[in-house]
Amino acid sequence: MRWTAQEGVERMQIVRTVAEMRRVSRDVREGVGARVWGLVPTMGALHAGHTSLVKAAKAQCDVVVVSVFVNPLQFAPHEDFAQYPVTVDEDCRLLEQEGVDIVFSPRILEMYPEGAGTFVDVGSVGERLDGASRPGHFRGVATVVAKLFHIVGAHRAYFGQKDAAQVAVLRAMVLDLNFGVELMVCPTVRDADGLALSSRNRYLSAEERVRALALPRALRCVELAVREGERDAAKLRGILVAELPAEDVRLDYAEVVDADTLLPVSDVRKGALVAVAGWVGTTRLIDNAVIAAERGAR
Ligand code: PAJ
Repeated sequence: MRWTAQEGVERMQIVRTVAEMRRVSRDVREGVGARVWGLVPTMGALHAGHTSLVKAAKAQCDVVVVSVFVNPLQFAPHEDFAQYPVTVDEDCRLLEQEGVDIVFSPRILEMYPEGAGTFVDVGSVGERLDGASRPGHFRGVATVVAKLFHIVGAHRAYFGQKDAAQVAVLRAMVLDLNFGVELMVCPTVRDADGLALSSRNRYLSAEERVRALALPRALRCVELAVREGERDAAKLRGILVAELPAEDVRLDYAEVVDADTLLPVSDVRKGALVAVAGWVGTTRLIDNAVIAAERGAR
């Protein structure tokens, strides 16, 4: 690894093992002293949503590490782990163009050696929204992110608002387990038609993609109702559900909740997360809108 204080890492390093990641991390730290490290955890199949996190990390950190690891622990046996898109070469090209310093892309057995049996369970917040419909999902997410935090030793870690329940779970984990990592949450990136970017969008047929637009449209209707003065969470939820016809989206959940606890709220004056998940064909999509707290409401 060649490092110059002025120019940073000369070429993007692709690191495959935990031992090598630790060695690189130590060499850089010893070489140039304590600098701000940013981590962007991903499962690859990168799109502009991911690169928005990378750009934020590049702007705010001295060394940027992107992890690319499709984490089997967060997929249930019937879910799409085996089909999850893997585009490592393209991902690395894109990350190099973005000026990323290090890509950490371990194999499954490197992260979960035979006999590994310790997991991070965040409790009830991990059983709400996606955690309710995907039991064990957030245990898998929290476990892999805790491992990545330890392996990389970053000061800041970047996540997308698109996965709002994931953010709540990771906030709880960082607080409860005293991780010294600052969570940075970046806005959801959308296509021009409003659909939130997702690695799973590539599964949609042209016709399904049109149907999927009901999700952002329904969220916009809720935001409009709030702007027009509606504060009652049950009524807002009613608008959300009414705007999602079953022939477009088979609803998983549509909720108005507190963004930290993910528990339902009765009104949105103190701020709220409007979160929705559903299947379009066989593809499960999620989206959300954040309602800001009113002045003086907290
Ligand atoms: P993945 O789905 O690859 O997403 C990696 C990061 O990109 C997450 O923080 C996610 O919220 C963010 N992201 C995805 N789509 C986005 C969009 N349209 N706009 C903004 N950000 C977006 O989330 C995971 O991977 C995994 O659960 C992981 C945290 C890596 C743990 O395995």
